[in-house]
Amino acid sequence: MHIALTGATGFLGSRLLVQFLRRGAEVTVLARPRPRGAGERLATVLAASGAPGSLLDRLHRRVHVVEADMSLPRLGLSPVHFQELADRADAVWHCAGDIRLNADLAGLRAVNVHGIRQMLAFTAAGRRVPRFHHVSTAFVAGARREGTAYEHELTDAHGFENAYEQSKYEAELLVHAWARQQHRPAVIFRPSILVGDRPPHPDVPGHPLQYIGEVARSAREAAAAGGLELPPGERPLVRIAGRADGHLNLLPVDWAAEAMVRLAERCPGTDVSTFHVVHPRDTPMAVLVRLLERLFPVRLELQDADVAVSDATELERTADFYPGFTPYLRHRRRFDDTAARRLLGPLPPPPDVDLPYLVAGTDPAAHDAARPRTSR
Ligand SMILES: NC(=O)c1ccc[n+]([C@@H]2O[C@H](COP(=O)([O-])OP(=O)(O)OC[C@H]3O[C@@H](n4cnc5c(N)ncnc54)[C@H](OP(=O)(O)O)[C@@H]3O)[C@@H](O)[C@H]2O)c1
Repeated sequence: MHIALTGATGFLGSRLLVQFLRRGAEVTVLARPRPRGAGERLATVLAASGAPGSLLDRLHRRVHVVEADMSLPRLGLSPVHFQELADRADAVWHCAGDIRLNADLAGLRAVNVHGIRQMLAFTAAGRRVPRFHHVSTAFVAGARREGTAYEHELTDAHGFENAYEQSKYEAELLVHAWARQQHRPAVIFRPSILVGDRPPHPDVPGHPLQYIGEVARSAREAAAAGGLELPPGERPLVRIAGRADGHLNLLPVDWAAEAMVRLAERCPGTDVSTFHVVHPRDTPMAVLVRLLERLFPVRLELQDADVAVSDATELERTADFYPGFTPYLRHRRRFDDTAARRLLGPLPPPPDVDLPYLVAGTDPAAHDAARPRTSR
């Protein structure tokens, strides 16, 4: 089996690559050459994510790294090279994406929409008629904050919390249009928010909550540099819009990668098949609030409505831990994953994403504390 994979240098794609190597596949990795060579970055990411030596060995023998950019026509490849690579693939997995929740739509479309067009053209060109696998997100469900989102739904009727969600929604529409025009099957995976319990590492791409941890560290350093440190023990109150009874679906990334590859193996694939790849138990908002309170020296209070502007303190007016993410504090939506569960079979459930798990994955200082490892 020869797989063409994008996004392999990323948080999720590196785990998908591990799954493919474990199964003995040959992989063509399509990756950007910057900031260092893609091959060198791949080896660093895999080693730092804890991949065993035997897999690193396979990386050198079974993985062909091709420098390619999703935002360029034909991925920046010559027509001949593009065709040659397309002809090698038995399956195409498109995992590259721009995941900035605070970016504008034009910037996100360059990778998330233009990139998928390039990869669909690549898949259509391949003479082995490869199946297209697209990594979307459960958050294409948009700004509907309550109720249940189903795998068959794809609508913009509720609007979107941020431009990232919209760009991923537009990408899914393109997959459906392509499948109809080409009479080809495709598989769409919609993972929820992916997390890990390994500490942040400078050479390894992080997850969204690690990004919030970085924001907190920079804010603390800037405050210290400006002589604005709070006296020890003093934690100002920050009221922020959110639901104390809310919950979010957070899923360990290694489990997500294994589930996706299993689903692909078991999916009969005659049409477009869409799977929610989600944790069976949501993480309560109270756990996220406690995590944020560990990362930032504040006391957080979630309020049902926006804090009235006249009443808001200076800190509350500027507090936005990660623009684009903060609206999720108002969510209590569930994701139905009936189709995924039906196919997955007896895969052991993922570990609970509780406070110790999240602290281990976001706070390097806390990591030395003895805690059993749950992710591989
Ligand atoms: N993280 C989550 O919580 C989450 C949840 C649901 C769905 N997803 C989806 O999962 C996919 C992977 O996310 P992730 O968390 O692994 O993100 P990530 O760590 O930021 O990785 C993104 C990957 O995309 C590649 N990429 C970005 N722009 C590119 C371009 N112009 N050309 C070629 N490659 C490009 C990156 O390459 P470089 O190494 O060169 O930057 C990297 O390999 C995305 O499609 C995302 O929408 C993520």
